Amino acid sequence: MSVPIVGTVAELRATVAGWRREAASIAVVPTMGALHEGHLSLVRAALKKADRVIVTLFVNPKQFNSAADLQAYPRTEVADAARLAPLGAHLLYAPDASEIYPEGFATTVSVTGVSEGLCGAFRPGHFDGVATVVAKLFLQTGADLACFGEKDFQQLRVVRRMARDLDIPIIIFGCPTVRETDGLAMSSRNVRLSPPEREIAPRLAAILFETAERIAGGGRVDEALARARSLIVDAGYTRVEYLELRGEEDLAPMSKLDRPARLLAAAWLGQTRLIDNVRVMRE
Ligand code: PAF
Repeated sequence: MSVPIVGTVAELRATVAGWRREAASIAVVPTMGALHEGHLSLVRAALKKADRVIVTLFVNPKQFNSAADLQAYPRTEVADAARLAPLGAHLLYAPDASEIYPEGFATTVSVTGVSEGLCGAFRPGHFDGVATVVAKLFLQTGADLACFGEKDFQQLRVVRRMARDLDIPIIIFGCPTVRETDGLAMSSRNVRLSPPEREIAPRLAAILFETAERIAGGGRVDEALARARSLIVDAGYTRVEYLELRGEEDLAPMSKLDRPARLLAAAWLGQTRLIDNVRVMRE
């Protein structure tokens, strides 16, 4: 069994039109490829929610902060299609850049508020790139629902806000982060870790979970965050970019736990930047 692959909006829309004639509901799972179990869990979730599932594969140049990072991003389309086939995804949409950003493309979708701070502070323009491409993918596919991973929690909030603000009729589902057995959040960037870095990497998740428990148990937020920052560096991480407690819905900074929250972090391990987040709720 293989997944049909299309590369143009015209082919995509012709397929979708056929499904609509059958009154099928349609889900989209946007990806940049290099599929791992985290992506596959989104596809499985989408298959439970809709009659047809489109997986998109587009390495979006507008969301990378450096040409080197874009260049280094793994491109594994043949392997990706092979991984999707046994799941029963109905279509892989893998457009060229010219299909997404044709000659003269001049529009940027920019979401304020939830895109500010956290990754937004360290990756200027990143969420504009994400919001722009995801808006296009929603409009090109015309899907009824979309599945995104909670691993990129800020991205999930940006995409929800964008769809709501632009009246794009799509329901967005956030799906739980998938972790390796040692707790490391699955990410296409994990392949860049050297064997010693790979040993250290799961400490980030462990420290986030410990810190979340500490805060949920009534510990002072500022003290818990300071402790966690030094533990991450002591574990062997090169640098903590941010570690913050934010409101789960609005991503507003929180200095005490008075509503459901997320503890979000980005940290560098050698040349690799890893992000992770966990839920924090009063016990
Ligand atoms: O999470 C990703 O892989 C990307 O940011 C997305 C949502 C596919 C947009 O390019």
